[in-house]
Amino acid sequence: MNKTQEQGLESINVGICGLGTVGGGVFNLLQGNAEVIAARARVPVVATHVGTRSDKPDYDLDSVQVSADIFDVVRDPDVHIVVELIGGTTVARELVEAALAAGKHVVTANKALIAEYGNELFALAQQHGVCVRFEAAVAGGIPIIKALREGLAGNRIQWLAGIINGTGNFILTEMRDKNREFADVLAEAQALGYAEADPTFDVEGIDAAHKLAILAAIAFGMPLQMASVYAEGIAKLTPRDVDYARELGYTIKHLGVARQSEAGVEMRVHPTLIPQRRLLANVDGVKNAVLVEGDAVGPTLYYGAGAGAAPTASAVVADIVDLARELSAGQVDRVAPLGFAPDAVQTLPLVPMAQVVTPWYLRMEAEDKPGVMSEVARIFSERGISIEGLIQKAPADGETRVPVVVLTNRTAQADIDSALQALEELDTIHGEIARIRVETLDG
Ligand code: HSE
Repeated sequence: MNKTQEQGLESINVGICGLGTVGGGVFNLLQGNAEVIAARARVPVVATHVGTRSDKPDYDLDSVQVSADIFDVVRDPDVHIVVELIGGTTVARELVEAALAAGKHVVTANKALIAEYGNELFALAQQHGVCVRFEAAVAGGIPIIKALREGLAGNRIQWLAGIINGTGNFILTEMRDKNREFADVLAEAQALGYAEADPTFDVEGIDAAHKLAILAAIAFGMPLQMASVYAEGIAKLTPRDVDYARELGYTIKHLGVARQSEAGVEMRVHPTLIPQRRLLANVDGVKNAVLVEGDAVGPTLYYGAGAGAAPTASAVVADIVDLARELSAGQVDRVAPLGFAPDAVQTLPLVPMAQVVTPWYLRMEAEDKPGVMSEVARIFSERGISIEGLIQKAPADGETRVPVVVLTNRTAQADIDSALQALEELDTIHGEIARIRVETLDG
């Protein structure tokens, strides 16, 4: 007889805090797929209590207790699993702490909360003998956390690279394919429920940085270190760079990259040129994808919807089912939050961004006169930077300036910065030089 049966639990009762896009999706999925969920969990899984301030929710809540105070869900003695879907890191943090302290398991889709306070929350959960699950925090419906923690548990993870913000990818794709305005596409992403409450989180790379901090911690077995993730957003990208990248055989994607080498760990989120032939280059719209390289398995790719009600609910419900299975089997700490035993999680040295080495795409505005290109080449060669590709267009009618686009070999950021400073000091180079990192994604 398992513990659920021993405890006489006829069902696993779920309390949902927050009935917005994702909360509504979870409520609908638990009801709509109740049969298959019960079959998998070995016990019925029922939403019994919902915390929402909305007085006119779009759901049939007749059979459910509804509280305007979400903390009533935590206080409900019949609730076994509290699902936190209110977002943010203030009330959400208090709620999760209260739930853990009350001996409830917690499932959350809140990447900011996990990235910033996960270390403390995991310790609190362990202290109270309960679990925090957060599959939906990264890459929407893609089970990437489970893949890293369980499917790849026999590997040393060498690096991972992912498109992990659906809104940003949706914007880049629409701008590239339909020539739409940035603000117009962002408004559509908000209406579709993809964007964060504060959409600057999507556009400035903060949302992707939250997710990368979580992926890196799980991949390498280190504490969450959100403050150490380098984040650069998509706001400065121009259609010209998208076009030149295409001419050179690349697509620009907003990528999160985590890599472990002898030099240490890199964690960075930024626009990136990737070769058009790579599968990641063809991940468009709100879709996310994460490429993970393990030492035994080699490269593996995970692809799916990165945002939206039903895909995110799919990940939340997977965590609920996992907990229900463990509750029914009488063992709830089968897998630690980061997949490593808590006492094996260790701080690792980080590689400063100045020392991170990648190829670079550079675009500058140069005077169209003799000697300019040799000056540019001299500045690169003095720093040991090799030019791998070059585009120089003829000046437009009546123009005396030409765009010059350079693709370099693998170069440390410090050397590129030094080259750019020298180039910008030339009288023949005008304005700020655009620079975008390149990832070949082959090792
Ligand atoms: N705003 C996020 C995105 C939602 O666009 O990816 C899913 O985390």
